[in-house]
Amino acid sequence: MEQYGYFDDAAREYVITRPDTPSPWINYLGCEAFFTLMSNTGGGYSFYKDARMLRITRYRYNNVPTDAGGQYFYINDGGSVWTPGWMPVRAKLDAYECRHGLGYTRIMGEKDGLKACQVSMVPFGSDALVTKLTLENKSGAAKDVSLFSFVEFCLWNAQDDSTNFQRNFSTGEVEIEGSAIYHKTEYRERRNHYAVYAVNAPVQGFDTDRDSFLGAYRGFDSPAAVFEDRSRNSVASGWAPIGSHNLKFTLAPGESRSFIFLLGYCENPQDQKFVAPNVINKAPAKKLLDAFKTEAQFDAAFKALAEYWDGLLSIYHVSSGDEKLDRMVNVWNQYQCMVTFNMSRSASYFESGIGRGMGFRDSSQDLLGFMHLIPSRARERLIDIAATQFQDGSAYHQYQPLTKRGNFEVGSGFNDDPLWLIFGVAAYVKETGDISILSENVPFDNDETVAESMMEHLRRSYHYTIDHKGPHGLPLIGRADWNDCLNLNCFSSTPGESFQTTANFESGVAESLFIAGMFVGVSDDYARLCREFGWQEEADAVPAHKQAMEQAVLRHGWDGEWYLRAYDAYGHKVGSNECEEGKIYIEPQGFLVMAGVGVKEGYAQKALDSVRKHLLSEHGVAIHTPPYTRYHLELGEISSYPPGYKENGGIFCHNNPWIVLAEAVLGHGDRAFDIYRRTCPSYITDQKLHHTEPYVYSQMVAGPYAPRFGQAKNSWLTGTAAWTFYAASQGILGIKPEFDGLKIDPCLPAFLTDLKLTRKFRGSTYSIHMLNRAGGEKGRVRVTVDGREIGGGLIPADKAPAAHEVTVTLE
Ligand code: BGC
Repeated sequence: MEQYGYFDDAAREYVITRPDTPSPWINYLGCEAFFTLMSNTGGGYSFYKDARMLRITRYRYNNVPTDAGGQYFYINDGGSVWTPGWMPVRAKLDAYECRHGLGYTRIMGEKDGLKACQVSMVPFGSDALVTKLTLENKSGAAKDVSLFSFVEFCLWNAQDDSTNFQRNFSTGEVEIEGSAIYHKTEYRERRNHYAVYAVNAPVQGFDTDRDSFLGAYRGFDSPAAVFEDRSRNSVASGWAPIGSHNLKFTLAPGESRSFIFLLGYCENPQDQKFVAPNVINKAPAKKLLDAFKTEAQFDAAFKALAEYWDGLLSIYHVSSGDEKLDRMVNVWNQYQCMVTFNMSRSASYFESGIGRGMGFRDSSQDLLGFMHLIPSRARERLIDIAATQFQDGSAYHQYQPLTKRGNFEVGSGFNDDPLWLIFGVAAYVKETGDISILSENVPFDNDETVAESMMEHLRRSYHYTIDHKGPHGLPLIGRADWNDCLNLNCFSSTPGESFQTTANFESGVAESLFIAGMFVGVSDDYARLCREFGWQEEADAVPAHKQAMEQAVLRHGWDGEWYLRAYDAYGHKVGSNECEEGKIYIEPQGFLVMAGVGVKEGYAQKALDSVRKHLLSEHGVAIHTPPYTRYHLELGEISSYPPGYKENGGIFCHNNPWIVLAEAVLGHGDRAFDIYRRTCPSYITDQKLHHTEPYVYSQMVAGPYAPRFGQAKNSWLTGTAAWTFYAASQGILGIKPEFDGLKIDPCLPAFLTDLKLTRKFRGSTYSIHMLNRAGGEKGRVRVTVDGREIGGGLIPADKAPAAHEVTVTLE
């Protein structure tokens, strides 16, 4: 089987050994405000805070060839032109390697005895992409090297940039000062920010006008300036501004030289924008450039970045005896959780950065895998999310990260959204013990005049479900629940109409078993939060609400062998054995069993047996089966995908960990792990078939009915990251933050017999040694802390930070 790379665990890197991966395999640089997406061939783009509103460099999605456009370094070595990342010139390299690390990417290319190595990172605390490029002459003769850098600027608003050409071809402006190129389009009017692209050495030439650099009718693969070895010193005026430097130097045999390139984002106070008419104030740029003038400065920032990640990854660490599990839990899954926390579903190679901002449900779930890393940022995020809630408890489905305002185009009406907020806040309080978040005053719809406590927001969330039930006493689905494509009130027959925003049929009938599972699952936590807040009466009322919902599920939601998915707008069953297609769905089996519904009735066990029997495949658990072969007006977008893709019978990885967690509820260690392994990137055997990055989760793997069964799509930005980390760290390995302390409650597969874990929790450090002789079922769990056995596995939270030795035996 063709392989394209491997994990270097010691370096915490994924090493790509050939550039022509089945699709671009990317990395995310930056984890605060400045972000760069960088592919294994140097493609990608940068933005500041918001991929739509403040796009710094241009990227064309759906381009041919794919992934053309990025930060490029062209080398003209005595007439031979090449790029170290292979793209865009695609000259044959003698050696190539790309190492994606935590917050940085290293691309190495070698040709004819010249080795080029570029290390790019977004340094912690800086709004810049900084690249150290080292060229080494490995040949026996001196080399005259001509190096050309290249970035193409985006005119800030990425949506406008790719549509409004009648205006945009005439607005571009730059300034050039020494080795620094300033992109200042629209700065003359309302913007107070610009970009700078500079190198820490004198240049022999430059270009800032794309067509001058490339030449008419030429592409990134054949820039005339590079092939003719002559920068045009062009000054952009309208059209397409770029930044390109030319550096010429000689390398003796064995000699190497490094340069530092910096692409930065700068802002000025409104009254200090200019130093002379139309001459921008470059002070912030100069400060940034001064910080990365020398290699020593670069190396120090690089070290600081590694230390930052050391700190984050020391919070949860496992040595399980299975390196595939360890590398995911310890490094890559947590890393992806950071990325999904930062990006939600906005900017990837499948999300254009202009379509979706931060999702209410998406971001709430992303927090489940991020909470332990930086709880203070999670707290801020929860407040931002809650501020997009409406007074009736419903919520904007998405908001823009820059403005934090709800997205009108999509609006609200997704009836699962409100409940996710309770999941997020409960996870925060469990991790930190900080109940002050409940008293935080948070506006509704960003209107400060109608602010209420966070707890009141949660109350409205909870009651939104109670107040929106259908004929069977089950939650009304609204436009959709977690499954965005199950649009039971949409009834769209007009081509191009949005399935998410169209509701042609306000049935007041279509109900969701999935939301029922969420409601039951979150009820105890909600009651506990009420009590913490001093709302005894509200807390006391919760068990009855919970029970009513459970009863409704048991009475109207059980199909005989599994749980139904929904009732449609006619009151017909969805996800029933009676259906011709879409007989069984994964979501209710996962969420209802996780919530403990039907455990004592034996339904839970049956439901999970049915999942194995009908939905399980080599590459994971399909979302439903059989997929819909024709368009169902009453079901919506789910049936608009060809069978086996996306929500129509694909393996939608996001919900596989729900089955892992559900199996753990029933104590099935081997079965839980089996599901975990099937979608886990580090267990992928056929990288060509899988297609997307083998170090992160993808949203979807084509299901058994698809012509390309096993091929993944939509890598990186998926709730799979958070949920699988949650399932592995809490469901399988069983380290669970609880309101009162840390609960140790593993459910292990038989083959993991001796594990060591470290968990930092509320200031204390727990060194945990687990011995498993339970044979693949949960067995009896015994926990001792500092030599003393504790009942129930709950280690009470410390009043003062301490270090604890914990032993766990499973028999
Ligand atoms: C969306 C999620 C949704 C999932 C399933 C994703 O693309 O971001 O909000 O739950 O699809 O439809």
